Amino acid sequence: MTDTLVASLHTPFGRFTDGSLACEDVDLAEIARIHGTPTYVYSATAIEHAYDRLDRAYAGVPHLICYAMKACANLAVLALLGRRGAGADIVSGGELFRALRAGIPADRIVFAGVGKTREEIRQALAAEILMFTIESPQELDAIQFVAAEMGTTARIAIRVNPDVDPQTHPYISTGLKKSKFGVPHEQVVNLYLRAADLPNVEPCGIQCHIGSQLVHLDPICDAVDRVSELAADVARRGIGLRYLDIGGGLAIRYRGDDPEGPEAVAAHIANRASALGLSLIMEPGRFLVGNAGALLTRVIYTKANGARKFVIVDAAMNDLIRPSLYDSFHEIAPVQVRRGANETVDLVGPVCESGDFFAHDRPMPPLEPQDLVAILSAGAYGHVMASNYNARPRAAEVLVRGGEVRLVRARETYEDLVRGEVL
Ligand code: LLP
Repeated sequence: MTDTLVASLHTPFGRFTDGSLACEDVDLAEIARIHGTPTYVYSATAIEHAYDRLDRAYAGVPHLICYAMKACANLAVLALLGRRGAGADIVSGGELFRALRAGIPADRIVFAGVGKTREEIRQALAAEILMFTIESPQELDAIQFVAAEMGTTARIAIRVNPDVDPQTHPYISTGLKKSKFGVPHEQVVNLYLRAADLPNVEPCGIQCHIGSQLVHLDPICDAVDRVSELAADVARRGIGLRYLDIGGGLAIRYRGDDPEGPEAVAAHIANRASALGLSLIMEPGRFLVGNAGALLTRVIYTKANGARKFVIVDAAMNDLIRPSLYDSFHEIAPVQVRRGANETVDLVGPVCESGDFFAHDRPMPPLEPQDLVAILSAGAYGHVMASNYNARPRAAEVLVRGGEVRLVRARETYEDLVRGEVL
């Protein structure tokens, strides 16, 4: 396989010598022919490579990689990572259900989020998950209440808001004082002391997560340093913790950018954990699946409104909302590249909103109706954020390994759209 157009992205998407775009050894045109469009295409090998890379970076210290399944919650993807040794970072009862259904052992599941309901806490305690991250004093009380009711003990980590600027998009920054996440660092020690006094709560970890798509990792090191100081303080007060959970946030390549990889900070973070005698937990989402997936879509029409050229494809903001929501950039590659000069186009979907776009003013090779294009680096926060807006059935998902393609989620039908509704 030669991979010219997308070589810089280090994705599993490359070109056969005849020029057609492939995922691993499968021609994307073949996937479109069999499974239709729009379809999410994931590479099993790429997901495993990303997992192994992170695992290797921390090989010297005890660690558990809890996949932040909010990034891509397909059961087949979860099962694949679970077989590799991953646990899961969950944020809802629904994610708990999915993780268990996919065979992720409960003792590798951590439960994050600012608004866990009592019912969700109950479900997680019944499953005997590894630990909850606590984001407020009220939540600590709720967990004590439910655990007491069930006659069990809840293992907890306090999520520290370290007030560190992660230097990323404001919507995915979580570690600043003004954000809703975590417990302000000056309140953390007191909350541990309170937790240690509760009969049905066992403090066992400390956690932070400062944001997502962190192209520079210095802020993570700063946050881990702050959290480590707190962990040492907590230990001096006689509360023995076991886990240092550093959250997620590792970045992937969306265009020519070259984010720092986990190797850049692994030694620093591993040293902190070792010095405290703590095992590491990490919660990568995007890093494991982002570059491994693409959204395959077909051109319906092209048109020119004055000087503006539009390419209208059969995927839309309901399938992949990242460009609309974060103005995020996704590389877009035609499956077959037509000869001719590049044209500057807007690539848009059929949804009735001006915000329904995948690219603005993008130079693209000529595109015509029926052509296929792949929207790259869409494996993370793609299908999971899809909706049925405009009564559009959600896309299919396929998992490729080598030359094989497996449909891992069928395209929704019109009947799926009205399930549960009454006339
Ligand atoms: N742990 C916690 C507590 C989180 O809140 C998140 C992501 C992660 C781990 C995983 O972060 P990652 O490794 O994927 O950066 N929809 C947005 C991203 C939202 C991230 C929310 N929290 C996007 O499409 O960019």
